[in-house]
Amino acid sequence: MKAADIRSKFLRFFESKGHTIVRSSSLVPANDPTLLFTNSGMVQFKDVFLGTDPRPYSRATSAQRSVRAGGKHNDLENVGYTARHHTFFEMLGNFSFGDYFKRDAIHYAWELLTQVYALPADKLWVTVYHEDDEAYAIWANEVGVPAERIIRIGDNKGARYASDNFWQMADTGPCGPCSEIFYDHGPEIWGGPPGSPDEDGDRYIEIWNLVFMQFNRDAQGNMTPLPKQCVDTGMGLERVAAVLQHVHSNYEIDLFQTLIKAAGRETGVSDLGNNSLKVIADHIRACSFLIVDGVIPGNEGRGYVLRRIVRRAIRHGYKLGRRGAFFHRLVGDLVAEMGTAYPELAEARTRVTDILRQEEERFFETIENGMEILDATIGALEAGRPPAVAGADATPAPLVLSGDIAFKLHDTYGFPLDLTADVCRERGIVVDEVAFDAAMTRQRQQARAAGKFKMASALEYNGAKTSFLGYDAIVADDARIVALYADGTAVERIVAGQDAVIVLDHTPFYAESGGQVGDQGVLSTDLARFAVTDTLKVQADVVGHHGMLEQGELARGDVVHATVDGVRRARTARNHSATHLMHKALRDVLGGHVQQKGSLVDADKTRFDFAHHSPLSAEEIRRIEELVNAEVLANAPAVIRSMAYDDAVKSGAMALFGEKYGDEVRVLDLGSSRELCGGTHVSRTGDIGLFKVLAETGVAAGIRRIEAITGDNSVRFVQGLDQRLGAAAAALKVPPAEVTQRILQQQEQLRALEKELGQLKSKVASSQGDDLLAQVVDVSGVQVLAAQLDGADPKVLRESVDRLKDKLKHAAIVLGTVTDGRVSLVAGVTADASKQVKAGDLVNFVAQQVGGKGGGRPDLAQAGGTDAAALPAALAAVPGWIEALLA
Ligand code: ALA
Repeated sequence: MKAADIRSKFLRFFESKGHTIVRSSSLVPANDPTLLFTNSGMVQFKDVFLGTDPRPYSRATSAQRSVRAGGKHNDLENVGYTARHHTFFEMLGNFSFGDYFKRDAIHYAWELLTQVYALPADKLWVTVYHEDDEAYAIWANEVGVPAERIIRIGDNKGARYASDNFWQMADTGPCGPCSEIFYDHGPEIWGGPPGSPDEDGDRYIEIWNLVFMQFNRDAQGNMTPLPKQCVDTGMGLERVAAVLQHVHSNYEIDLFQTLIKAAGRETGVSDLGNNSLKVIADHIRACSFLIVDGVIPGNEGRGYVLRRIVRRAIRHGYKLGRRGAFFHRLVGDLVAEMGTAYPELAEARTRVTDILRQEEERFFETIENGMEILDATIGALEAGRPPAVAGADATPAPLVLSGDIAFKLHDTYGFPLDLTADVCRERGIVVDEVAFDAAMTRQRQQARAAGKFKMASALEYNGAKTSFLGYDAIVADDARIVALYADGTAVERIVAGQDAVIVLDHTPFYAESGGQVGDQGVLSTDLARFAVTDTLKVQADVVGHHGMLEQGELARGDVVHATVDGVRRARTARNHSATHLMHKALRDVLGGHVQQKGSLVDADKTRFDFAHHSPLSAEEIRRIEELVNAEVLANAPAVIRSMAYDDAVKSGAMALFGEKYGDEVRVLDLGSSRELCGGTHVSRTGDIGLFKVLAETGVAAGIRRIEAITGDNSVRFVQGLDQRLGAAAAALKVPPAEVTQRILQQQEQLRALEKELGQLKSKVASSQGDDLLAQVVDVSGVQVLAAQLDGADPKVLRESVDRLKDKLKHAAIVLGTVTDGRVSLVAGVTADASKQVKAGDLVNFVAQQVGGKGGGRPDLAQAGGTDAAALPAALAAVPGWIEALLA
């Protein structure tokens, strides 16, 4: 059964059981600071489990693209070394939101596996959480799995609920006991059943995890029961495909074979069992899909994880002998394999290829040097390895690579720690990660001392959502404080001078999201005043007011007057609305491939990143400005509607990158643009005022950035331009309209003057040269002239020397000049005299004394020097030197 069939059979099966098929969400979880990447099917349903995001269905099924390469679930280091770990994989899942629970989840799973996928029941083993008698009984009594194939797994990780059979998405969030289904690949493969000492072998492979979601875990480890019991299941597509295709490694399934062949083609390796090819095949999937979902290689957060994966892939190519970019060439093969199931991948093909190529080229520039250092260090370590002692029983302690070397590789050569560790691991060496971390911390502290960081920390909050009034109002009179935080922990009260985060039951403050910055303003009572410097989400739909209590005291339960800084909000709204019009204009002018890749809207400007292959021309920018300003002048009202996501998209609304959309979405019509948007906006396009593009630059391969301003910012900008133009016109003494013409004229005049000046200089110098004839001395029949010529340049010196040679017939001449503290020297010797004195020797005799060196032909030579003060004496010494030479 092909992977594509397995995927569709799964979805159809659950559809037939009343589940709604929900599309895969982005790998970048929307508005969820607790998670780096979507790591399983339940991520997009997190708030549904928590009861804060109601959906029109209570049963859902999905095939979710997932990445486990950072954060709580991280498989990066295992990729290439095991038969079943991936950075990127697809997770098939079914979900119940307060609908069915353990019984149906177990029966459905069994039916799908044994009837639809026709797996032999006697090959299946199951585990349950040790306390979960209910699940045990369903497996044993209802499904009929024999007791010897049902295993209870305890808290095998040292604490209550710290178990292979207790699943949680991240350190906080929904979680619950689980029951896992394993497939026995047969006795010819090494490994033991789950819970046995040999469980890590490849014989018994977990194919499906049924999680019985029951709790929400907070940062202190407290487990609060969820409002309703839920089900979350996850079956790795690649694993189950291996089972159904009768192969025992995931890398042998149809999906991977093409990619492994392509990796072999690009690295010139024909042994398709080579582990490095598996690494490359795995990594091209993760890297490409991350880029599709808007991640760009970088130095922090998600971008850094992506960079690490790319570099790891390159390192494996390097190991196979590649010395230049190759990885990006696999994008085409991936599109051929997965582009049908994921059209967004096919669409982004060029962009993904470009970004990967650029990243690769950059790394190949330094990998060589880094690998040399690493090889040399490992070589030295190995040379010092104590010889194995015959009869010694204990395995010798592994060799350790110093943390400082690992840090240097990281810092100077861009080797992420796990890449260094990967190389070391192949040679049985471990990295001193503690020392590495220490070096890293030192560097961070230095960096932090150099610039202040905005620290985001997760706050614990279990109360009701904040009701947001800010679409219609910027003040609220009777907002009640429902939570207060100081130094990251909940407190009952704060006093004047304290920094804090305040959550209100309702607020007009907009919390940063969708690229729009959070509001600023004031929360006050008769006696207290809290200055809000930023507004950020504590959780989806819970607004945190960050700031400082300037006076008085505030306590939980107090009622405050909340006032948003209206000027700043209005500026921000103008910029946000202009962003929508600009997005539309960009698509009209450049084409439908223009896609938003990120944006930042604040009170000063809008900064908008979008996919486009080349810089914009001045004409294109002018067109965009005209289109947007025409919409502004049309002064159309903003129309905001709430509708079902699918209807919104069908009606042509643009859904933006990085936004989380529920089933009901907010759709904003502004002029001819229609977008899904949760931001705050103007009420008519005319409110935007003048729209002006300030800059257009490139930020990464295939990504352009445009910055623009509106409203009073534009007015000030235009006034500034006008004022500078006026000043320039006044200085040039012409009306503003003639400034350019006058500048061009003056440049022309300047060129003519420079030319004239050059001619005059050489005239003056040559007339000086003639005066020099008086300084000629006769040294044993050779006419010797050594003199300084002020105001000359090397060209004039040469001309003067030539003319003097003509006049003097049997002569040796050296002339020097000083320009900007540097000495230039030219020596010339007439043809017959050059048998006695070489021009090169002559010029060097002088040059040495002024700290320089030179050379040339026997009849003409030049030199320079730095010690101008020594020049007169050096020239004065020339006759004596020639005399000695001729004697
Ligand atoms: N969320 C569960 C897992 O990923 C199903 O294993």
